[in-house]
Amino acid sequence: MRGDQAAPSPPDSLVGLRADLPPDDASLARELEAVANRAWPPLRQIEIGGWTLRASAGASRRGNSVWAHGSVPDVRVALAAVSDFYTAEGLPPTFQLTPVARSEQLGAALDAAGYDDTGPTDVCVAPLGALVSVPPSPSRSVSASVGVATADVPGDEWLRVAGQVLTTFGVQRAGTLAVLSVLRLPTVYVTLTVDGVPAAVGRGVTDDRWLGIYSMATLPAARGRGAARWVVAALAQWAGARGATHAYLQVEEVSTVARGLYADLGFRPVYRYSYRRAPLSAPRAAPVSRGGGPAGAGAA
Ligand SMILES: CC(C)(COP(=O)(O)OP(=O)(O)OC[C@H]1O[C@@H](n2cnc3c(N)ncnc32)[C@H](O)[C@@H]1OP(=O)(O)O)[C@@H](O)C(=O)NCCC(=O)NCCS
Repeated sequence: MRGDQAAPSPPDSLVGLRADLPPDDASLARELEAVANRAWPPLRQIEIGGWTLRASAGASRRGNSVWAHGSVPDVRVALAAVSDFYTAEGLPPTFQLTPVARSEQLGAALDAAGYDDTGPTDVCVAPLGALVSVPPSPSRSVSASVGVATADVPGDEWLRVAGQVLTTFGVQRAGTLAVLSVLRLPTVYVTLTVDGVPAAVGRGVTDDRWLGIYSMATLPAARGRGAARWVVAALAQWAGARGATHAYLQVEEVSTVARGLYADLGFRPVYRYSYRRAPLSAPRAAPVSRGGGPAGAGAA
């Protein structure tokens, strides 16, 4: 998830372990990797050994990058295949690098090939019980009426709010909706209204014990009044009724407001990943828009 880029000041309470995860977190990270991959299924994928090459019409970095969750017999040969795959897709070859498959050989090969390293993102978890209680009214007026609507498809109002805040539902909407149409996990779209006017949205996906929290967005005029806390509470209540016991989310290092909110809600970072993209001079079949609005993905 990308978002606000408010000036950083206080210490970042979500900064956590970066490498050499302790065994419990390493196993949790492995589980979360698989859960997050299921929550954002690529439109097309091929496997090369322990690498999954994903393509999703350019929407989101996750859906258009290699998930290197295991090893390959020959990194050099596999890298060439990656280049061919993404060139055919009209996308820059990109890897999502996580501590789950920390391969020195791959890192060195990407360094040598000039791949950049962007978008450090923390995967964070919290017990669901900490999230379900409804916070104070997200309005300056005590008499305002607050509404929470849930739906299993994104309605017009949900899309309008998300599209104004998140790149994935703005310039990348078509690709994003195509990904969501192949998602088979239970999903909820929450829209929060204040006096009948949509102010904030969020999306939840359940998978066994997990609630994945995605697409959190509050319209700029409604921010800082607790709207996102209401949305999280609604997502948690929906997921709790379906047996989930824990929540996870992904938040970029630059999303300072979101990070403060999530830390305050009780999320703790488990591991960090980032994206490594081939230099722009690498051969490409067609130019592709990577988006670039003020805020980004529901799935980073
Ligand atoms: C992150 C986001 C969803 C938070 O929405 P929100 O409705 O303003 O959140 P809340 O009011 O519930 O909580 C925000 C907290 O940050 C604080 N905050 C600090 N600076 C803020 C600012 N410039 N604007 C809003 N809140 C700010 C608020 O005071 C609040 O803390 P508090 O409840 O202790 O007072 C919203 O800022 C947003 O849509 N950002 C762009 C998209 C994004 O980053 N999404 C999340 C990606 S992981």
